[in-house]
Amino acid sequence: MAPSIIRELMDAAWERGDAIRLEVGQPDFSTPVHVVEAADRAARDGVVGYAPNAGIPELRDALADKLRRVNGTDATAGQVVVTTGGMGAIFTSLRVLADVGDEVLLPDPGWPNFEMAAGLLGLRVVRYRLDPARGHQPDPAELEALVTDRTAVIVTVSPSNPLGVVLSEDSIHGLVELVERRGLWLLCDQVYDELTFDGPPRTVAAVAPSPRIVTIHSFSKVYAMCGWRVGYAVAPVAVARRLTEVQEAVTSSVNLPAQHAALAALEGPQAVVAEMRDAYRARRDLVLDGLRAAGVPAVRPAGAFYVWADVSAAGLGSHAFSHELLREGGVAVAPGIAFGATGDHAVRLSLASSDADLAEGVRRLGAFVGARVGR
Ligand SMILES: Cc1ncc(COP(=O)(O)O)c(C=O)c1O
Repeated sequence: MAPSIIRELMDAAWERGDAIRLEVGQPDFSTPVHVVEAADRAARDGVVGYAPNAGIPELRDALADKLRRVNGTDATAGQVVVTTGGMGAIFTSLRVLADVGDEVLLPDPGWPNFEMAAGLLGLRVVRYRLDPARGHQPDPAELEALVTDRTAVIVTVSPSNPLGVVLSEDSIHGLVELVERRGLWLLCDQVYDELTFDGPPRTVAAVAPSPRIVTIHSFSKVYAMCGWRVGYAVAPVAVARRLTEVQEAVTSSVNLPAQHAALAALEGPQAVVAEMRDAYRARRDLVLDGLRAAGVPAVRPAGAFYVWADVSAAGLGSHAFSHELLREGGVAVAPGIAFGATGDHAVRLSLASSDADLAEGVRRLGAFVGARVGR
């Protein structure tokens, strides 16, 4: 398994001490107090034993409600499996949906942990392009050309990390038609589902309901709960049962105080989500304005909290660019190459930083690119 390139930049930024940190993909907000209090109460009341593998029934019920309310699907509690973060759901889903030697189609650019998990599971990774000329939407015809007898799963991420692109309804219909016709699975990572800026999230299972879809969700980003490690998978009931069995052999279950925290997040005021989403939207606009002023092209994200900036004018690969920007400008960004071979012209800026850091970080990045092109 290749070491994480994003982690390499994080470590270099730590070492430098005074760097502006725009490489990290975790919210800079604190977990809402009522959520922390629910976990505290659970732990103090002795709710600290083993939990059911698929999650406590009241949390699964609340998640089925959330899926109806937010995602517009008619999923039942029996379809929901509470997992150790979205990552836990990704790992067990890939294990259940594919066998050793099978092929899995991953987006390029895309979040690198999918490739790591696939590698650990003995799956062969085939990347498919997210072409800027198509607004970074997947092309079902191009995907079909990559399908072989061993293809088991197509992975999509919406809103996407690192692009912030939300799957269009056309793309969703095209992908679902393809997986149904070829007997594949569509594994859609929607861990940023409530962080959409231009309208409600178009979740795959609501736009094109299908028994071939598994979706991945998480409390990490939406409720600023990265370290609590609570996510969930939503799958057809038979697949959910298999996910539950496999989870017994991996982590068994999510710790009970964290499940009670997640329940409190769902049952408490949802204004906390709206406030964070509004803050990310305002920061997106601030960063896009700054990049535009500096002449650095960027993708306008419709969700998540990243901006994908094209720094090819600087004439460096994204890895060298990121290290030099850190050394000369004191700004840490994630190199595009970390997300796949097609990403080497770009870097990812995280919006999970203060307005002041974002404004100054973008100013320095613009000055660095400007100096390299002689502006
Ligand atoms: C696309 C995507 N999926 C999943 C995750 C993992 O989330 P979790 O903290 O819930 O494991 C991340 C985290 O960065 C992500 O960006």
